Amino acid sequence: MHNDLKYLQVSIEDGIGTILLNRPNVLNAINRPMVSEIVHTMEEMDQNESVKVIVLGGVGRAFAAGADIDEMAEATPLQLELLNQFSEWDRISLVKKPIIGAVQGFALGGGFELALCCDILFAAHDAEFGFPEIQLGVMPGAGGTQRLTKLMGKTKAMEWLLSGDRMSVEEALNYGVINRIVARELLIDETKKFAIKISKQAPLSLRLIKESVLKAVDYSLYEGMQFERKNFYLLFASDDQKEGMKAFQERRKPNFKGR
Ligand code: HXC
Repeated sequence: MHNDLKYLQVSIEDGIGTILLNRPNVLNAINRPMVSEIVHTMEEMDQNESVKVIVLGGVGRAFAAGADIDEMAEATPLQLELLNQFSEWDRISLVKKPIIGAVQGFALGGGFELALCCDILFAAHDAEFGFPEIQLGVMPGAGGTQRLTKLMGKTKAMEWLLSGDRMSVEEALNYGVINRIVARELLIDETKKFAIKISKQAPLSLRLIKESVLKAVDYSLYEGMQFERKNFYLLFASDDQKEGMKAFQERRKPNFKGR
């Protein structure tokens, strides 16, 4: 199914779809075909019943050292406008299944933006996050100024975006950018272990909780509460709600089917 992928390593095992960026010679610099491959693979996994959770990582010493500078260097504004490349990036946030990122080494520029598209982030001790675009005379374009600001607030985001400095894992943990720091050699295993734990949860609950949390970032509290409520009601149309509550009353483990 994934034989034609040029820039990714993809596997599906134990309910986990793993996508690894695979251009280690250029620290997984993200070119446009790689973005297409990421988005298409995630969308396929979203429809694939044997995948419950998606893990996103990188091959080699980096997660991704940014968008491919060689691909962008000669671009004109009109070419970029007509390419409309960010419409593909936007589709990542429409993926319904949880995406857990595993970051080692550099997550810079577009690489940091890709990491910020994940729902949960695990990072190795050597991970470094940053937006060096300012040193290239450009700026983030795939959500960096927006997502970082929503995550850590205006004042702190401003510091990182204007300085281009690199954030250590301790700082990233402190700012709520990542969930957990993991030893480098255990990064993928620990991330998958956590993904497997999540994958055992009721699939429809996973789906609607993720959707509701993402709305909290965009909506007012009032709108978000209305959205949450409708999703709560919707789950009462599922067999899994009946099964989950019955299993509790019968003191047994529930057997969720995702419908
Ligand atoms: C193209 C890249 C690259 C990138 C690294 N490489 N980052 N190629 N685009 N973003 C290539 C290098 O040219 C080099 O190729 C190889 O990867 C190894 O990198 P080195 O520089 O030799 O490694 P090192 O000395 O360890 O330095 C690592 C680094 C540095 C600090 C990460 O490579 C670096 O500063 N990279 C650029 C980081 C950056 O500015 N990212 C933001 C890009 S703009 P050769 O062939 O020489 O071995 C961006 C905008 C996003 O992301 C917009 C929305 C998508």
